[in-house]
Amino acid sequence: MCGIIGFTGNINAKDVLLQGLKALEYRGYDSAGISYFTENGIRTIKAVGKVSGLADKVASASSDTAKCGIGHTRWATHGGVSETNCHPHRFGKVTLIHNGIIENYKELQDELAKEGKEPVSQTDSEIAAMVIDSCYKNNPVRAIKKAVKKLHGAYAFCIMFEDHPGSIYAIRNGSPLVATATKEGAIIASDMVALIKYSKDYFVLPEHHIAHLTAKSINITDLDQNEIEPDMLHVNWDMAAARKGGYEYFMLKEIHEQPESLHNTISPRIKDGLPDFSADNIPDSLFTDINRIVITACGTAMHAGLIGKNMIERFSRIPVTVDIASEFRYQNPILDSSTLVITISQSGETADTLAALRLAKENGAKTLSIVNVKGSSIARESDYVLYTHAGPEIAVASTKAYTVQLAAVYLVSFRFALAKGTLTEDETRKLAATLLEMPSFVENMLSCDKAIEPISNKLKKTKSLFFIGRGLDYALSCEGSIKLKEVSYIHSEAYAAGELKHGTISLITDNVPVIALATQENVFAKMISNIREVRSRGAKVIMVAGTGAQVDASLCDHLITLPPVNDLFAPFGAAIVLQYIAYYTATARGLNVDQPRNLAKSVTVE
Ligand code: AGP
Repeated sequence: MCGIIGFTGNINAKDVLLQGLKALEYRGYDSAGISYFTENGIRTIKAVGKVSGLADKVASASSDTAKCGIGHTRWATHGGVSETNCHPHRFGKVTLIHNGIIENYKELQDELAKEGKEPVSQTDSEIAAMVIDSCYKNNPVRAIKKAVKKLHGAYAFCIMFEDHPGSIYAIRNGSPLVATATKEGAIIASDMVALIKYSKDYFVLPEHHIAHLTAKSINITDLDQNEIEPDMLHVNWDMAAARKGGYEYFMLKEIHEQPESLHNTISPRIKDGLPDFSADNIPDSLFTDINRIVITACGTAMHAGLIGKNMIERFSRIPVTVDIASEFRYQNPILDSSTLVITISQSGETADTLAALRLAKENGAKTLSIVNVKGSSIARESDYVLYTHAGPEIAVASTKAYTVQLAAVYLVSFRFALAKGTLTEDETRKLAATLLEMPSFVENMLSCDKAIEPISNKLKKTKSLFFIGRGLDYALSCEGSIKLKEVSYIHSEAYAAGELKHGTISLITDNVPVIALATQENVFAKMISNIREVRSRGAKVIMVAGTGAQVDASLCDHLITLPPVNDLFAPFGAAIVLQYIAYYTATARGLNVDQPRNLAKSVTVE
């Protein structure tokens, strides 16, 4: 959730840290701080609020130069938002930054209190600094090794020791850390967006290994002090992808990047007109040797899973359940070697999804993950990975990562059915050909912003609204609702249209907006009845209809019609409409859509 960065080298470390924190700000943004070595020891500067505030403070605090330092942008878990709780934390000779949660910090704090040691903050991270300091006898690696045996929970630490200027030590358990050694120096961070300015090649610090960064190199050892060579990875995006490129917000930029992300995700997987996972090393036996599927994920990724269930069951006639990862893991799920568990995650680091994956593996299930971030924990721990190629997604609200997840589940559903023989080659070819058209279909959809902006202007004062739909449109309603809530702070609920009258219709009164998705011909007549039900109770209806739908003008207040597309592929178009509704409603309310309150991009805590 927090963003962390460390740099040691031959250029101005303060600049590297502040630029890195700016890039990482989407991970957490209630306060930020840096520490760096000076001739007179370690200096720390912190500020509540945005990284820009910290940068001003650093500029006015001093003109000293630094070559080695660490920086942190915080998303509060333990202790409120204050400079005291902001990282880096210092105790004795140890200064550190932390991403994660130390679950036993209270017990550790009580033990330290017996030695007369008291923290100044309310954070679990400061307790970790105290524990490391209490283990420190001039040997950083030994101190870290000893301390991590006492710390329970998830962590990524970058640590500086007062008497080891120029060195940064790092270790992680659960929380991500990537690093690279460049001609400018060695750099480590929570994710690639902070490193991309310096290198496209990087490695993921293996868990329970200690990285020692100096200006010239990065040395990695396991806890028995054996040196290891990390596996290098490469990203194929660059700095431009991690910048706003003229857009007011990353969210809008990422909405517009969807044609390219879809193309990059779909086209390498269609060979001779058929879906093909040979380059992903995913064998057909993964699909033929199982008798049920569980899809598990969180938030938007889970909503992509709902669409996946519909498509896989439709084409393969194999039962699929979709579970929220945080529920799945505590429900003693029924899993065995005939179950395929599909995890979906943009970041590949979501704590509950990762735990669900581990549970599936412990119980002998086969695992496939659909992940956007290369080398992330979920990708590395799954038996098989199908990478989506959305590039970096910076806005907290997921847009392009969602539509590429849809593309991935469509590909899986087609290949699955082909392997099982429930779709013929001809049928599969037709579906694959339509999927290949999605980048241009979505490109075409992007111009519907002109129709949506005025609708959003009308929605901006709304207190509460409803999304309704059936089948694929219900799954999309769930996504439309979360998107609107997270960026506009307007309460909304997604309802299966037929279920509304079993209670919730009592909330439909004069002028309550209802966004009705009616893109599926097979349930169109039913949707019309549901729309009439809400209209007759005073609802203002915004209807998203499929091509060729005969809509009586009196049925709705606003009508958005999708360009011609096979109904099964309508979610790619409807998703754009819903993303725009969220975006323009939030901006009409004057909100910062990229950094919605209380949210973080990657939820690495439970
Ligand atoms: C999406 O708009 C949300 N910010 C959120 O629901 C997100 O999809 C969820 O936290 C899962 O993240 P992941 O895909 O990185 O696992």
